Amino acid sequence: MNYSFLKGKHVLVTGGAGFIGHHLVKNIINEKPAKLYIIDNLSTGLKGNIEDIIGLPEVEFINEDIAKPSSVESIQELDYIFHLAAVVSVPKSFEMPFLTHRTNESGFINMLELARRLKVKKLCYASSSAVYGEQTQMPIKETATLNPQSPYGLSKLLNEQYAKAFQEWEYIESIGFRFFNVFGPGQRADSPYSGVISIFMDRMQKGDPIQIFGDGEQIRDFVYVEDVVQALLLGAKSEKKFGLFNVGSGQTTSLNELFEVLRNLTHYSQEPTYQEARKGDIKKSSADIGLIKEELGYEPRFKLKEGLVKLLNKA
Ligand SMILES: NC(=O)c1ccc[n+]([C@@H]2O[C@H](COP(=O)([O-])OP(=O)(O)OC[C@H]3O[C@@H](n4cnc5c(N)ncnc54)[C@H](O)[C@@H]3O)[C@@H](O)[C@H]2O)c1
Repeated sequence: MNYSFLKGKHVLVTGGAGFIGHHLVKNIINEKPAKLYIIDNLSTGLKGNIEDIIGLPEVEFINEDIAKPSSVESIQELDYIFHLAAVVSVPKSFEMPFLTHRTNESGFINMLELARRLKVKKLCYASSSAVYGEQTQMPIKETATLNPQSPYGLSKLLNEQYAKAFQEWEYIESIGFRFFNVFGPGQRADSPYSGVISIFMDRMQKGDPIQIFGDGEQIRDFVYVEDVVQALLLGAKSEKKFGLFNVGSGQTTSLNELFEVLRNLTHYSQEPTYQEARKGDIKKSSADIGLIKEELGYEPRFKLKEGLVKLLNKA
């Protein structure tokens, strides 16, 4: 893909030390932007993810809380914002709704104000499939009735509604991406809030027992992180003034199937134990990716097994 539109531009990535963020940052730096700002308070991100990037003369790392207006005060020129910083976990959003509200909603308004002040070309931001909640119709289209079932999902829905309102009121161009289950290298396995793939893989490699919440028949769309980066960059490049898109692989897999694929790849011999389903966990989540393919030219490049092999080789 050609993302040379970023050459010589001023770009901000929030959450750039995180899992998706550090892959995005690496892709952006290859396009030779004039300036790349990274804002991250390292609450779940790791400075080590971007150590090689931080040393570059065109990169400025701002270790700040995105919910504080002062975090962006020093930025005086900007073309594109990629906003990924958030409280990312559903269970944590139940435990800490106020922190979730502050980070995810105030943080987002901070980005809208920045976009307005510096007249940015495009604000691309991470929404989530959590805006859908439990749905009956699969695969899920963007036109489905939204039904978030956690403070996290609600915060992402509010981001989308603010983005829509600010496009109408202030002409701020934005694209929101409803990521499904993203996986790939650099996803932390040491937190109960991490993606199921990184947790399964970590435990299988260590020979530790594995718990599955619920009966394992929950279905998910697992999308490889480089495909998510592709979607974000296509969004920034697009001429669209407003958009909301699903980002998935278009394939669905149950947790039991995932367990089997990973078990074969890692030669793990144990059986999983099944635990009570977690609050806020949804049963079915399958992405219809027709709209993003048609409107942004997105084409997922990694099937689940290919992504898992890449992940295993890098782990
Ligand atoms: N990983 C997924 O499967 C998935 C699915 C749907 C949506 N998303 C969204 O994608 C985005 C990136 O998620 P990720 O998986 O890379 O998670 P992550 O936890 O690795 O990244 C989030 C980053 O934001 C930073 N951050 C958190 N609070 C902050 C604050 N107040 N100020 C500054 N920085 C802060 C963290 O330190 C971290 O580096 C999030 O908005 C998340 O909600 C992710």
